[in-house]
Amino acid sequence: MELLHVTVREMEEKDLPAVLEVEDLCFKDKWTKENFLYELNENPYSNPWVIELGNTDESVVSVVGFCVWWQTFDSATICQIAVHPYLQKRQLGSAMMDEIINDCFAKRVQTLTLEVRATNEKAINFYKKHGFETVTVKPHYYRDGEDAIYMMRKVDITF
Ligand SMILES: CC(C)(COP(=O)(O)OP(=O)(O)OC[C@H]1O[C@@H](n2cnc3c(N)ncnc32)[C@H](O)[C@@H]1OP(=O)(O)O)[C@@H](O)C(=O)NCCC(=O)NCCS
Repeated sequence: MELLHVTVREMEEKDLPAVLEVEDLCFKDKWTKENFLYELNENPYSNPWVIELGNTDESVVSVVGFCVWWQTFDSATICQIAVHPYLQKRQLGSAMMDEIINDCFAKRVQTLTLEVRATNEKAINFYKKHGFETVTVKPHYYRDGEDAIYMMRKVDITF
């Protein structure tokens, strides 16, 4: 059997069916195809990426997750990061996060921030594992009234 290889690369329009499937399975407030097209084609601050798994001979390649992060000067924010539920807990989210942090470091970004639902324990654990700390709680941040935890990580620190 061929070994699988993992690639993090920029999102393209052809990836959108797979991206929208993961989005649908992972989030309550879902981004639409139009939201992703805006990130791909119009938002100059946006970095939409996917993670794909493939055979080493590239005979089968599948997009199994994605992230969208924005950079404005020396700060950046993670808007979305998700892995297909069948493939979570296999370090694929970490592979994307490592790429984001490395790219931020290369671009001299100082701080990386994000909001996460207060009840999303696995994501909060994931972010803590990657060096994020809670800064504050944003009450009723989400459409359904749930609070957001606002987290931050300094980019030039390694964990
Ligand atoms: C958050 C998410 C992207 C993590 O991706 P992943 O590939 O499953 O995570 P990893 O395998 O890289 O896990 C790295 C660390 O995160 C934490 N973590 C991940 N999944 C976890 C779970 N189910 N329970 C507790 N901790 C978890 C652990 O600390 C883990 O380290 P370990 O493997 O040494 O235990 C993924 O769970 C996901 O897509 N969730 C749905 C979408 C979402 O909530 N995104 C965040 C919105 S703000």
